[in-house]
Amino acid sequence: MYRTHTCGELRIEDVSKEVMLSGWVQRIRDKGGMLWIDLRDRYGITQLIFNESKTDADIIRKARTFGREYVIQATGIVTERFSKNPNIPTGEIEIVVNKLTVLNPSKVPPFTIENNTDGGEDLRMKFRYLDLRRSVVKKNIQLRHKLMQHTRSYLDGQQFIEIETPVLIKSTPEGARDFVVPSRMNPGEFYALPQSPQTFKQLLMISGFDKYYQIVKCFRDEDLRADRQPEFTQIDCEMSFVTRDDVLDTFEGLIKHLFSNVLDVTLDTFPKMTYDDALSIYGTDKPDIRFEMKFVELKDLVEGKGFRVFDDAGLVVGISVEGCAGYSRKQLDALTDYVKRPQVGAKGLVYVKYNEDGTFKSSVDKFFNQEQLAYWAERFQARPGDLMLILAGDSSTTRTALSLLRLHMGKTLELMNKKDFLPLWIVDFPLLEWDEETHRYYAMHHPFTSPKPEDIEKLETDPDKAKANAYDLVINGVEIGGGSIRIHDRKLQQKMFDTLGYTKEESNQQFGFLLNAFNYGAPPHGGIAFGFDRLCALFGGMDSIRDFIAFPKNNSGRDVMIDSPASISEEQLRELSIKMR
Ligand code: AMO
Repeated sequence: MYRTHTCGELRIEDVSKEVMLSGWVQRIRDKGGMLWIDLRDRYGITQLIFNESKTDADIIRKARTFGREYVIQATGIVTERFSKNPNIPTGEIEIVVNKLTVLNPSKVPPFTIENNTDGGEDLRMKFRYLDLRRSVVKKNIQLRHKLMQHTRSYLDGQQFIEIETPVLIKSTPEGARDFVVPSRMNPGEFYALPQSPQTFKQLLMISGFDKYYQIVKCFRDEDLRADRQPEFTQIDCEMSFVTRDDVLDTFEGLIKHLFSNVLDVTLDTFPKMTYDDALSIYGTDKPDIRFEMKFVELKDLVEGKGFRVFDDAGLVVGISVEGCAGYSRKQLDALTDYVKRPQVGAKGLVYVKYNEDGTFKSSVDKFFNQEQLAYWAERFQARPGDLMLILAGDSSTTRTALSLLRLHMGKTLELMNKKDFLPLWIVDFPLLEWDEETHRYYAMHHPFTSPKPEDIEKLETDPDKAKANAYDLVINGVEIGGGSIRIHDRKLQQKMFDTLGYTKEESNQQFGFLLNAFNYGAPPHGGIAFGFDRLCALFGGMDSIRDFIAFPKNNSGRDVMIDSPASISEEQLRELSIKMR
């Protein structure tokens, strides 16, 4: 037997019990006559005490040989502590040790196993198994587990069934780049790892499963960021005989269930906003609506006054920032530098201070008088004390730049409280995007997404204008999930492939299995997939999904602990019929 209790379990009621604990040495304090060890396991920390007047000298001698992270077993009597620690649940007791065993010694760890560790990111990733011992990281992994369990219980309660789909599938030309796996038995041929189980879940609807879900690994060979990993997890779902609003209601239910059960947060009904509105009001399809600063367009008000920047611009648009009219020259210069960064992309920034005395001070006073600036302020619904920030240029770059400036101001003014959660459905996405480089349309969501019924004809006449029956869930500016009502009619699916520029042969070769399945009674269906790692990070109040993945990859897609990817032997390459240059 290794233990009678865990290190997080014993309380004042247990005083005088003989107990046995096993765990890791977190810390040793040696005050000569007395020695304390903090013993840690997954459940908590319990203090062991060695007192020269009560404890056998051999035991104390042995304890003095221990170092941090030794795995030990201690037997002793639970005693009330003299000086209690209110910060930990076991803080009222300690164990007076009468038997001590080393289960395994440890080298000195390369960084301290504390919440505020001295280890840098690279070192912690190399020794991730030690990093996972730190309670801040452990807490994130436990949160992930909890979210997974509550997801399963909600969906199971709604009669969804969890079905696994294959991991070795076929490469498709749409979406991100595929990770591929060579097939030894089929020389020169490759499997691809799924970017999502999209076509399989649609086939399951054709099979009649009606409500499917899967908590599933997906693989995408794309550039990495804080919210992107090459392998990540989705809560992937599909339903038959549903309209868009049936899907949104079901999954609004899931998200509310998770918030209430995991964070004890009750969410109001999620608002819906069209893609077009999101772009004109916030400049992005992922708006953070925890704060206002809605876009205000000014082109008609500012034209023809001799200011070339405005006259030449396709779009003149701004935000009004409450209470910032007192910004200094230096602060305004910093904002100008911010918008001029290549990642933001604006050419310059126009500001108008609405002074407390009702006058205006702007960077374009040469071109616009007080009366004109008062009209601007009216459009902004600005009040004395506010600062108006305006950008001008071509509409797409300017919108994006202003959306970044809006977020920058939100952050600077601390308007983005991590404890507030503001979800919103973005609906009616465009069906297609034109790509100048390859001179063809791409599906904005994926090629299986249905156009809005009233827009089907536009596929022939005006593909640019066709809207999709697609939706995203955005919470606090993060795209948490996305999905759509699917095409279930073979002819329409074929038409979609035609619009995307596939020849009949190409679409048959790539997606013949799906087109064929549509011949055998495909029900109307639709679904959604949530980025599970992003959901965990949101719940945990962090920006990086890496903190919620037990063994993540770094920004170059490497696992520095197992040192992967790695080269393989000549022998393996030969077996796989792969020739290296
Ligand atoms: P989509 O491509 O929008 O849709 O993906 C769904 C959600 O997955 C998350 N996500 C990621 N998370 C971490 N790292 C990544 N590299 C990554 N890429 C995407 C996002 C995103 O909203 N099959 C469709 C869903 C459907 O139509 O039902 C799909 O995969 O949170």
